[in-house]
Amino acid sequence: MRSGPQHVLSVKQFDRRLLFELFQRADELAALPPREITGTARGAIMATLFYEPSTRTRLSFEAAMTRLGGAVISAEYAASTSSAAKGETIEDTARVVAGYADLLVIRHPVAGSVARAAAVVDVPVINAGDGANEHPTQALIDLYTIWREHGRIDGMTIALVGDLRYGRAARSLARLLTQSVGTRLFLVAPPVTRMDPLLVEELRAAGLRVEEVDDLAAVAPELDVLYQTRIQRERFEDPSEYAAACGRFVVDRDLMRRLPEHAVVLHPLPRVGEIDPAVDDDPRAAYFRQARNGLPLRMALIERVLAHRPVAMVAANGHAHA
Ligand code: NCD
Repeated sequence: MRSGPQHVLSVKQFDRRLLFELFQRADELAALPPREITGTARGAIMATLFYEPSTRTRLSFEAAMTRLGGAVISAEYAASTSSAAKGETIEDTARVVAGYADLLVIRHPVAGSVARAAAVVDVPVINAGDGANEHPTQALIDLYTIWREHGRIDGMTIALVGDLRYGRAARSLARLLTQSVGTRLFLVAPPVTRMDPLLVEELRAAGLRVEEVDDLAAVAPELDVLYQTRIQRERFEDPSEYAAACGRFVVDRDLMRRLPEHAVVLHPLPRVGEIDPAVDDDPRAAYFRQARNGLPLRMALIERVLAHRPVAMVAANGHAHA
């Protein structure tokens, strides 16, 4: 077993055994009345440092810690209200906050910055989104939702739709799906937000059947899961590129008619027009159930991290643990 802190930086850390342990524990926690949840985090403090906007991620992490009997301290607008505004580095901020808390949850606009913070502290750090790189806990929630909705994670046909270039949730989910067996993945993106070819290669090398297609309506009848995403406006340097990517693939009633009865529609949220609210009443619209799943899944993860139980089959640097 590792002796150092159990960081959660990338979905590459997770194998099937670990995933199913987390999903089963999340199910148990979701079924318990809040009063019956034993305080596995009692006495512990979680610090949330968010250098980018967030609703679901920060609040569900904080609710999860609170439900487990722990306490929360938070820099909600860390970019403007923490010492980062004075020019402090993420490493210095993390070192200091690690002296006040037993667990850090960090979101930051720069890819790799959460790993940099983790490298200098002796408490666990959870990546709550680092730029366009990864959003591991969102991907865990997404796969947990697929497991809950379909009862399995294997043999599924899944479309990832929208911003596959800057969307860290879609990138992390694609990587996590390499732990499933017999998965067929359609990538459906406007030309300016196609997935990085290196990542596509990585997915194929890991055994996923990946096809890039540009007609969502044509593949819709084959899908078990349609994963829609927001075009990440804040990551575009050129506003005309953003405009070109918007509105290209919209989930509306017409598209729902083409989707099988058993399929589900997921979205990490927030949505800004890529899913018509008119489909919210459709039982296949699972995105609000998905958001709710964030609470028990993050509880299961926090419990594990605080108990110093391994949250990695391999270290984040890719080396297997001894
Ligand atoms: C996502 C994010 O921040 O990457 N949101 C989330 O955490 N649920 C997706 C997005 O912002 O589009």
